[in-house]
Amino acid sequence: MHPSRARAPGCLQGSVLSATHTSNRRVLSGMRPTGALHLGNYLGALKNWTQLQYQYECYFFVADIHALTTGYDDTSNIESNTWEMVIDWLAAGLNPANSTMFIQSRVPEHSELHLLLSMITPLGWLERVPTYKDQQEQLRDRDLATYGFLGYPLLQSADILLYKAAYVPVGEDQIAHVEITREVARRFNHVYGRERDFEAKVEKAIKGLGSRNGTQYKELRKLYQEQGDAQALEKAQAMLAGNARLTLADRERLQGYLEGTGRSILIEPEALLTATPKVPGLDGRKMSKSYGNTIGLREDPDSVARKLRAMQTDPARVRRTDPGDPDKCPVWDLHKIYSDAETQAWVQQGCRSAGIGCLDCKKRVSDVLVAEITVIRGRAQEFEENRDLVKAIIAEGCEKARDVARQTLEEVHQAMGMNYR
Ligand code: TRP
Ligand code: SF4
Repeated sequence: MHPSRARAPGCLQGSVLSATHTSNRRVLSGMRPTGALHLGNYLGALKNWTQLQYQYECYFFVADIHALTTGYDDTSNIESNTWEMVIDWLAAGLNPANSTMFIQSRVPEHSELHLLLSMITPLGWLERVPTYKDQQEQLRDRDLATYGFLGYPLLQSADILLYKAAYVPVGEDQIAHVEITREVARRFNHVYGRERDFEAKVEKAIKGLGSRNGTQYKELRKLYQEQGDAQALEKAQAMLAGNARLTLADRERLQGYLEGTGRSILIEPEALLTATPKVPGLDGRKMSKSYGNTIGLREDPDSVARKLRAMQTDPARVRRTDPGDPDKCPVWDLHKIYSDAETQAWVQQGCRSAGIGCLDCKKRVSDVLVAEITVIRGRAQEFEENRDLVKAIIAEGCEKARDVARQTLEEVHQAMGMNYR
């Protein structure tokens, strides 16, 4: 195993700690434009984004080209789905002062990097991504024997590498995509990061660190390379990051030399695994648009309360006097997300002893949920009524993203010997 992978993409807390050792605190994540979001989308990803934006330098984008990889045949809703989703982002609390929000197709560098990376990506890597076969099976009604669908994880790699993101907040199902991104970055750096006189240039750069730092750098590299000491790697990386006198090229050389491949032009990202609660739909199955069992993120509060009153409960609890089992009840899954310890104890005790009715039980969680949705709904209204503002926020985000993307592509072109004009 590659030593730097010894630290498994852990929980959020763990990774926050490790991130403090390096200066790269950039986070990138994307979401396909599915239109107005439901509670499951919010609790599974968006809510986490709104928190990350205060700790990291965040880039969030609408993955509209990704939507084409499975939905190429009908693009009639893609525009409205995009804007509705962006409104939900803003309503949920993503703040343009703290997060750069943009649309993938408006930064054409995504497509260009994808194409360039496709040249060095073995077919087998893509065929082996678990979602490839899974999704083809699940979406049998569509013809997914396309080039674009096979290449979709690589498009995601381009998304990530374009911004040199250190962290990618994703759910369990996307870990494999971050993994392949690391492989692609490593391969790119290996193929194009080699220079003639690399070792000599590295020696010179080490001298430039000064004798104390230079010695320490060599020691840390040895610890990492010979013993797989990930902390040594982080320490050395932090040292490089903290050195303002290094030129960009020397920094890349010294970073690359740490791992022993060559210059690192593209940065290997880490997954920030989002702890996703199980969000039940109204029928008890996982909340999903395709099941039609959702609660909208900015749904009318009366409608939310009504839906919750009709929500599936423990099927064994037919009459008020029948005791129930919260573990068999989707309402309990909501309590686990929204209720404090005291309320949870009240549910457990009251349900099992038939001391409380299901309507009382639902009311408790419904009130909290409605309060949350009411806040989001209020904020959404402001944006619904001012679409120009929404577009301006995105236009600005696209500009900013594009500046970063252009810079990376310039370095990529240069590494490939293709920066001729
Ligand atoms: N593939 C992700 C999904 O389907 C969305 C996505 C596209 C993404 N590009 C990304 C997520 C880059 C993280 C980073 O949910
Ligand atoms: Fe579910 Fe609550 Fe009814 Fe128990 S009392 S079955 S947890 S709704």
